Amino acid sequence: MPSVTSPIQSFKTRRERLLAWMHTQGGGIAILPTAALRPRNRDNHYTFRHDSDFFYLSGFKESDAWLVLIAGDVDQSILFCEGKNPEAEIWNGKRWGPQAAAEYFDFDQSYDVSERDQRIPELLLGHAQLFTPLSNVSNQQLLTHVHDWVAVAQRKSRGTRATPVKWLDLCEPLAEMRLIKDATELSIMKEAASISAQAHVRAMQATHAGLHEYELEAELLHTFRKRGAQGVAYDSIVAAGANACVLHHPAGNSVMHDGELVLIDAGCELEGYASDITRTFPVNGRFSGAQRALYEIVLHAQKEAIAHTSPTHHWNAGHEAAVRVLTQGLLDEGLLKGTLEQALETSTYSRFYMHRTGHWLGMDVHDVGTYRAPPLGAEDRPWRMLEQNMVLTIEPGLYVRPAEDVPEAFWNIGIRIEDDAVITAQGCELISRGVPVEIAEIEALMKG
Ligand code: GLY
Ligand code: MN
Ligand code: MN
Repeated sequence: MPSVTSPIQSFKTRRERLLAWMHTQGGGIAILPTAALRPRNRDNHYTFRHDSDFFYLSGFKESDAWLVLIAGDVDQSILFCEGKNPEAEIWNGKRWGPQAAAEYFDFDQSYDVSERDQRIPELLLGHAQLFTPLSNVSNQQLLTHVHDWVAVAQRKSRGTRATPVKWLDLCEPLAEMRLIKDATELSIMKEAASISAQAHVRAMQATHAGLHEYELEAELLHTFRKRGAQGVAYDSIVAAGANACVLHHPAGNSVMHDGELVLIDAGCELEGYASDITRTFPVNGRFSGAQRALYEIVLHAQKEAIAHTSPTHHWNAGHEAAVRVLTQGLLDEGLLKGTLEQALETSTYSRFYMHRTGHWLGMDVHDVGTYRAPPLGAEDRPWRMLEQNMVLTIEPGLYVRPAEDVPEAFWNIGIRIEDDAVITAQGCELISRGVPVEIAEIEALMKG
């Protein structure tokens, strides 16, 4: 693994790499906003979360900020951010302000965002190509702003200077960059996974009959925040008993009962990076016969998927391996009928396993990056090969709803086991194994 550079240098290196890519496309100017601050109710906003692409290139976490990159005779990176304002800072906390931000984050120039609408049209002059995250639909205002700025630039130019006539999407090159994590990212992601694993251990140890799902959510949050994570990477799923058959059941008011399983799918976000772990365990600390049988199938499926997760495998190999094991297990336990090949061909397993075995993991919990080989285009592209320093989840599961043709012992059992894996030279490294996964280890931990 390359050595970890300072995060500030990492952000700069990424800007340089994107600028180099822009040059391969003929050069031009790029404009990227951070996320919008979203109102929640009177005088109150949802907790601000920066835009992932913007943060990836800037390291800047404040709202109302824009990044401009110029791939020209001289490359430039320019930040627009909120100006210093002592009165506003009394209410909302310190701001960097353009000058200090430029020095700390190593931008060539920086301006108060109040100057944005005047300066960006000037910066557009002389550039025929404009790059923006066009296919990122979360910023509804971006295109309106860009249209306005191009219109002003056209008026200023009076036909004498180039203005953008070709608009290119930044999302695909950024997704390709983000798919392969650098050393700084890997070290943050390992720490995030370690924090989340510890939180799962705490929740397992706290579990007993009579607790509510929300009480386990509180145990998870305790460790996330205690160890410095900024919050959750997604709302914690804590699902008691039958609730586990709802894949994204948010921690609610349900009480956990003796004899049931509880499924926790939870991960913290640390310095902008997600972790994503699922464990399923018995409320009373001992797996029953039916629970044990299905758990062993899911665990076996995860082991097979892990064995098919390496640079010699393509993206879908782990899923295919997991589905085979799960389907054979469902046949063995009498939940499916027929032969393995028939069940696979007709996808009868999908009644009990309706999601895929993983997803890319990074700044977004379902991170960017195509699962088929680039470039984007036809649907029949082959699955992409895994590469060193990609990060993904491996998360098989089984979810059994009551039905006449299903043995009653399995009704309402929902099991998922999810770990986070970094692709290495030979295989993959599981970075979330600070929480046990084997039945004997889980039972020993819960015994105390
Ligand atoms: N936590 C959502 C997922 O596992 O994809
Ligand atoms: Mn996941
Ligand atoms: Mn998950």
